[in-house]
Amino acid sequence: MPGVGDRICAVKDVIESLGPVCAVIGAQWGDEGKGKIVDILAEHFDVLARACGGANAGHTIVVNGKKHVFHLLPAGCLHEEKDIVLGSGMVIHLPTLLEEIALLEEQGIGIIDRLYLSSGAHVVLSIHKSIDHFLEEKRKKKMGKGIGTTGRGIGPAYVDKAMRTGMRLETLWESPASIKKILKEHGTMLTALFDVRFDLDRELAEVIAAKKKLERCLIANITDTMSTCLAEAKTILIEGAQGTLLDIDHGTYPYVTSSATTACGALQGLGLPPQVLTSCIGVAKAYCTRVGEGDFLTEGSPTASKRLRKRGGEYGATTGRPRRCGWLHTPHLRYAAILNGFTHWNITKLDVLDEEKSIPVGTGIRNGGKVAYKKLPGWKKKTLGIREYSDLPRHARNFVEFIEEQTGVPVAFIGTGEGREDVIVNHT
Ligand code: IMP
Repeated sequence: MPGVGDRICAVKDVIESLGPVCAVIGAQWGDEGKGKIVDILAEHFDVLARACGGANAGHTIVVNGKKHVFHLLPAGCLHEEKDIVLGSGMVIHLPTLLEEIALLEEQGIGIIDRLYLSSGAHVVLSIHKSIDHFLEEKRKKKMGKGIGTTGRGIGPAYVDKAMRTGMRLETLWESPASIKKILKEHGTMLTALFDVRFDLDRELAEVIAAKKKLERCLIANITDTMSTCLAEAKTILIEGAQGTLLDIDHGTYPYVTSSATTACGALQGLGLPPQVLTSCIGVAKAYCTRVGEGDFLTEGSPTASKRLRKRGGEYGATTGRPRRCGWLHTPHLRYAAILNGFTHWNITKLDVLDEEKSIPVGTGIRNGGKVAYKKLPGWKKKTLGIREYSDLPRHARNFVEFIEEQTGVPVAFIGTGEGREDVIVNHT
C-alpha cells in the first residue's frame, strides 16, 4: 500500500512534469470540469490566464462556504497572490466582470491590483445579446431549431470583431464624450444590420462604470506582458474555455461556439508563441455531455441519459439547461489529443459511473453509420473520494487504462467526487 509520503512524491512529480506553461483544455463539448483541476493546480503557478470565449463559460466557485458561478474570471482567482490575465481572444461583458469582482471584494478578496486585461479583448454589449436572441429565433423559424447558444451575445460579438467594427477594451481609455460617440455610431451600424433595439443610455452607463473601475487594469500589449512574465521566470496556467468539439474551426460546425477552444487558440488569445507550452492537460468526463443542438453519436438512451444526468448533476452552470448525457467516444478523445497535443489526461467524475453494470464506449463508426461500442464491465463499487490509484476497483483501473491505450496519453488526474481533495494523482 502506498503511504502519504509516496503520494506527496507522486503529486510533486506530476506537477513538475507540467513545466512552466500549462494549458488545461476541454476534450469534449465543454463542461468537462476544467475548473476543479485549474483550482487544484493554481497554487503551483504564478499567473492564471483565460484566453478566449466569454461569459458563455461557467464554473462554480465556493467562496466562504457559498457556491457562486463565475463566467469570466478564471477558476483559481481565489488564490490571492496570483496574477490574473484575460487575453485578447476574449469577448468580455463588462457588467458581468464587474459583478464577479464585486462579489470577491465583498468577501475581502482583492482582484483589481492583480488583474491584467488585454486592451485587445472585445466588449460584449447588451445589443450583442439581443442579436444573439434575434438570430436564434430566425434559425428556429427557418430550420426548426437554433444552435442552442447560451444567449450571452458571444457569436455577435465575434461577428463584430471579424467585421473589424468591434469595440475593444482599449475604448476604456477614451473620454466619456468620445465613448458616447463611438457607442452611438456602433449602435447605428448594428441596428441597420439587425432588427434589434439599441439602448444608448444603458450601454453608455455600463461602459462608463467599467471605465471607472477597470481602466487601471488595461494592458497595452498582451505579448509584452506575457513575455515579461516568462522572462521573470513566472509560471503560467492557461484555462481553456468550452471544449475542443465546440471549436469554431475544428468542432462540430455549425453547432459550435464562435471562438477557438483549442490549445493553439489559447496561445493565440494570449499572444504566446507555440513553443513555450510545456504541457497540455486534456480534460474529459468519464462519460460525455452536450448542451445545445448538434450531433451526439454516443448519446445515451433516454433512461441512461437521465440516470447519468441525475448522478452527475448535469445542468448547465450558465443557463441551467439539462445537459444531454451519453458515453465516451474514443475517436473523439484521440482527435482532441492529437489536435491539442495533450501530454496528460484529467478524467473527471469517474464516481458517476459507480453504479453502472456495464459501460459502453464508442470506438468508431460501422458501415451504415452506427457507432461501434465496446462494453467495458462496470465496477459496481464506490470510488467516491478514493485518492490512490491502487485503491480503485480493478474494472475502474481497466476503464482508465483503456482510455490511455486508445489515445496514447497517460491519465495523470482522476476526479472521484465534487470536493477539491477528491482526486487521484497518478504518476506512472
Ligand atoms: P455560444 O457560445 O453561446 O454561442 O453557444 C454555442 C454552442 O456552444 C451552444 O451549443 C452552447 O450550448 C455551447 N457552449 C458555449 N459555451 C459552453 C460551455 O461553457 N459549456 C458547454 N457548452 C457551451
